[in-house]
Amino acid sequence: MFILSEEQCITCGTCVEACHNKALQIIDGALVHDPDKCNWCGHCLALCPRDAIMIDGDGYDVEDVEEFNMLTRPTPQQIRRQIMMRRSIRRFNEEEVTDDELSYILEAAKYAPTAKNGQDNFLLVVGTEEGRKEILEDSMEIIGKAGRECAETMPGLSAFFMMKYKMYKENGEDGLFYNAPVVIYVFSDNLLDGAICASTMMQMVDAQPGLGACYLQLAADPFNKDPELKKKYGIPENKQCAIAFALGHTDEEFFSSVPRKEVPVVLK
Ligand SMILES: Cc1cc2nc3c(=O)[nH]c(=O)nc-3n(C[C@H](O)[C@H](O)[C@H](O)COP(=O)(O)O)c2cc1C
Repeated sequence: MFILSEEQCITCGTCVEACHNKALQIIDGALVHDPDKCNWCGHCLALCPRDAIMIDGDGYDVEDVEEFNMLTRPTPQQIRRQIMMRRSIRRFNEEEVTDDELSYILEAAKYAPTAKNGQDNFLLVVGTEEGRKEILEDSMEIIGKAGRECAETMPGLSAFFMMKYKMYKENGEDGLFYNAPVVIYVFSDNLLDGAICASTMMQMVDAQPGLGACYLQLAADPFNKDPELKKKYGIPENKQCAIAFALGHTDEEFFSSVPRKEVPVVLK
């Protein structure tokens, strides 16, 4: 619900100019909001110099809004270092992921941008030993089946699936989650929303000392291959799994960044 404090609003028009959906107008000297045009992105609220606008109810909580100063952003040098030092972590130690660490990561999911502010992401957080074992067994069966089915059409992929499946079946090796204490699956109506949500959460993983993570396309695939798996774990039918990631503490220490190829760029 859009709430306007008429006492605080000075009809300066800042919000009207900024609204890309044209959901705000000044009519007869008063600010008027059209809920049918609004996608509830909150840009008007964030820009209002008089704190005259609020969005509350219908899943939004006024208590979430925090004041901040744009000058306190991390510097480009700090962000560059964080990007370059990030590694995929596949070796986790025994240390549990704390509730505080996890809640920072889950909060980041909420602030990820989504197309048309659809906020359509849905998370499955697997944080118990039994839960992980069950989902590993279910996923490996689907990976094994997929491996057998594509043996002729995609021999390379089939061999990869069968290698993971056999490692698990014959030696009990977890080549899917790498024995991570936590696995987070991101589902969405729109795969791009899900991928961006995961990437936003990953920023918060990297910001917490000792934590590490690895994206897991291989873990996401079984949910998109077999609708029964989604049903079993309470995932809404319309959601697809964009990606999953393994999360835990690591003892790995890194002393340098790694070389990478240039991304081709066309300048016009
Ligand atoms: C979309 C995506 C899917 C990935 N899926 C897997 C996966 O299923 N299993 C795995 O071990 N690593 C997976 N990775 C990790 C990549 O292998 C890794 O990012 C790449 O080798 C570069 O290494 P770095 O992340 O340490 O820089 C995935 C990465 C991305 C971006």
